[in-house]
Amino acid sequence: MENQATYNYHVVRQFAIMTVIWGIVGMLVGVICAAQMYWPELNVGPYLHFGRLRPLHTNAVIFAFGGCALFATSYYVVQRTCNARLFCDKLAAFTFWGWQLVIVLAAITLPLGITSGKEYAELEWPIDILITVVWVSYAIVFFGTLAKRKVQHIYVANWFFAAFILAVALLHLVNSMAIPVTLTKSYSVYAGAVDAMVQWWYGHNAVGFFLTAAFLGMMYYFVPKQAGRPVYSYRLSVVHFWALIFTYMWAGPHHLHYTALPDWTQSLGMVFSLILLAPSWGGMINGIMTLSGAWHKLRSDPILKFLITALSFYGMSTFEGPMMSIKTVNALSHYTDWTVGHVHSGALGWVAMISIGSIYYLIPRLFNRDEMHSTKLIEAHFWLSTVGVVLYISSMWIAGVTQGLMWRAVNEDGTLMYAFIDAVKASYPYYFIRFLGGAIFLSGMVLMLYNVLRTAFAGKAVDAPIPAVAAHAH
Ligand code: HEM
Ligand code: HEM
Repeated sequence: MENQATYNYHVVRQFAIMTVIWGIVGMLVGVICAAQMYWPELNVGPYLHFGRLRPLHTNAVIFAFGGCALFATSYYVVQRTCNARLFCDKLAAFTFWGWQLVIVLAAITLPLGITSGKEYAELEWPIDILITVVWVSYAIVFFGTLAKRKVQHIYVANWFFAAFILAVALLHLVNSMAIPVTLTKSYSVYAGAVDAMVQWWYGHNAVGFFLTAAFLGMMYYFVPKQAGRPVYSYRLSVVHFWALIFTYMWAGPHHLHYTALPDWTQSLGMVFSLILLAPSWGGMINGIMTLSGAWHKLRSDPILKFLITALSFYGMSTFEGPMMSIKTVNALSHYTDWTVGHVHSGALGWVAMISIGSIYYLIPRLFNRDEMHSTKLIEAHFWLSTVGVVLYISSMWIAGVTQGLMWRAVNEDGTLMYAFIDAVKASYPYYFIRFLGGAIFLSGMVLMLYNVLRTAFAGKAVDAPIPAVAAHAH
């Protein structure tokens, strides 16, 4: 039983490397989309048109880049905190190859225009079924490992990963219910306002559980590890967990303000979004305060810089979100680039930066090295990312508020002050700045790939042994 004595790092290595590769692919498509908005002649159709590339971008960054980062980190964390090898190596390998197949199928079908038309759930029914099979296997591997743990206690990071796995299964199954017509076309079983409600219950909880809860799981493991300090408050982490997962489920209707949705559901969504500020900030504070007594490390440790800056962006975007959910604010922000700015302060600032920091932590450990090939390159990557996000989101804020104000400006006689094209023209310079910010962020990812490959080739793919005596406390 030689196998039993080591952790399964093989599958973690595979997912970790693919995180970097899919990150580059997904962000490159994002940069192309950004370029198409500044240079419309780049819209060469039909396959590479903005309308086809945009869902390719969102699927690639969320499910390929974010998804691989989550598989890698959750598989690593659950093993390390349970003192147990992953349950069933074969099934774990299946989740890797199955997930890559989903990604490749998405990359083929979306440019071909094969789509269900539901945002963040565009993939057609045969791929949806494959996703379900992979996801159930993921749940079996993850919960199977928890079940065979050698440590009595279940560390809080695993709670977040567990909630993410269960919630995403539920969301995917309910929202993707459809009647197939052909192999590549199906119709949703829901219609009208119900369809919209189900879609945004899904959409918002995809943000809440895929893009937030799971990355908080990452935060609860990698921030204390990299800082060399215990979590600031274990009690707060438990309160944070229950408050967050309870509240998120109700906030979806803030995506549908002033629509055919019953008014009371919109107000309910707004109230729960405002409440959401509290658990979100509780989590952020718990993460940042973990640095108490170790603040000086921030000066010299770029991995810690990634993790803590990610938490700052998490705090910013979870302050901005509740504000945007207030109906009168949403009347200005909705349909504008303000939303796109909000999305990327969460997506690039929080999701991408916490993933990047965690992968930098993992790579040397997975390849039996003391540290990454070059700390200077990590430092350079950190600054490229930070400058890139700031350019992206500040340009979109200005463009968004400008658009909102121009669309609602009226002359004394009640006629509109500006034609739509005036607002497009006013947005133009900001589209260039967004393109630049995105390209800078992407260049940092290329440095990361180089640094990761140098580390991997200099090292050896070794699986760490499982300590014989179980650790009891964290
Ligand atoms: C307390 C937390 C948050 C609240 C209450 C919140 C609220 C909102 C609101 C009100 C909108 C605009 C809806 C509209 O006008 O259409 C929005 C859009 C969005 N938010 Fe957040 N947000 C939060 C955190 C986050 C985070 C951390 C992320 C990313 C990691 C994120 C990702 C998104 C996305 C992707 C959209 C755009 C959805 C779409 O229209 O396609 N949000 N959010
Ligand atoms: C180099 C980095 C990136 C660039 C240049 C970029 C660019 C873009 C562009 C141009 C759009 C279309 C906006 C529109 O329709 O007007 C977009 C949408 C979106 N991107 Fe990115 N992106 C990047 C990274 C990311 C990452 C890492 C994530 C997620 C983890 C992400 C998630 C999204 C989402 C959810 C949307 C849809 C927003 C909405 O519906 O409001 N992006 N991105």
